[in-house]
Amino acid sequence: MRFCDLVDELAARLTAGRVHFGHGMGSAREEALALANFVCRSGLWQRRSLLGRQVSPSARARALRIAFLRTSRCLPLAYLTRETWFAGMRFHVDKRVCIPRSPLAELIEDGFEPWLQAGGPRRVIDLCTGSGCIAAACAFAFPGSEVVATDISAASLCVAERNLRRLGLLGRVELREGDLFAGARGKFDLIICNPPYVPTAAYRSLPREYRHEPRLALTAGADGLAIASRILGDAPGYLAGNGLVALEVGEAAGALAASRPELPFFWPSLERGGEGVLLLRAEDLAD
Ligand SMILES: C[S@@+](CC[C@H](N)C(=O)[O-])C[C@H]1O[C@@H](n2cnc3c(N)ncnc32)[C@H](O)[C@@H]1O
Repeated sequence: MRFCDLVDELAARLTAGRVHFGHGMGSAREEALALANFVCRSGLWQRRSLLGRQVSPSARARALRIAFLRTSRCLPLAYLTRETWFAGMRFHVDKRVCIPRSPLAELIEDGFEPWLQAGGPRRVIDLCTGSGCIAAACAFAFPGSEVVATDISAASLCVAERNLRRLGLLGRVELREGDLFAGARGKFDLIICNPPYVPTAAYRSLPREYRHEPRLALTAGADGLAIASRILGDAPGYLAGNGLVALEVGEAAGALAASRPELPFFWPSLERGGEGVLLLRAEDLAD
């Protein structure tokens, strides 16, 4: 069987399985391509000339097994392959962490231009780091920076440590277990966070795929703002004079804007899609 035929077959099964695509994959075809690449270990992304390559029967059988688990249990693909990509880097993922998919990746890769000064931030704190994906992307994007990454979940920090070690970034990122800024010292030029922001009631009606992720990583009280509001409340004490807050709040954006009408939130439009990411400068947060 050719690689492109395997992709067609997998896409058809995923479509028939009526699974939900919301963990970094936009469609059955995109996910089928990722799965075919995974079993072939081909790294063939978008290389059309290689789509005619032959796939071994064992690779096809493995892909079909994974597709079966994907559709029968509604498990996100990344939990089955135990890997995903974020900001161009590969991350190990398992059920201890939510699957990296934050649109913050685009802003990090763009160096937060024109929001951050040339030369990049000197000190960065990634709150709610989970798999460590945002901290790693920042350490890579801003080579001169010192990065602190915190999470309240010790289990997720084990995953973050594993990822940072494999990426050779462990020496650049200090991991801390704790509640948001707990234990953080000094001021930061960039406070970045993808916190939980799903309202409790909305969580109950999410597609089954999301139930496989740690609930702690998703829900944030009745309005989804329990964590984001605390971050904005505490940020002035930790933000350097010309610093920037970059916070993802997804569908809770409207509720957050309504709860803090005095703050001039800027919601960048993102080329790769995704909504509900806000930027605030230190001067915007000051009274
Ligand atoms: C939406 S996930 C984001 C993970 C990662 N930053 C990403 O973008 O994929 C939210 C993370 O917040 C952590 N978390 C929840 N409440 C927290 C708190 N009070 N303090 C620190 N981390 C918290 C969870 O353990 C989870 O890892």
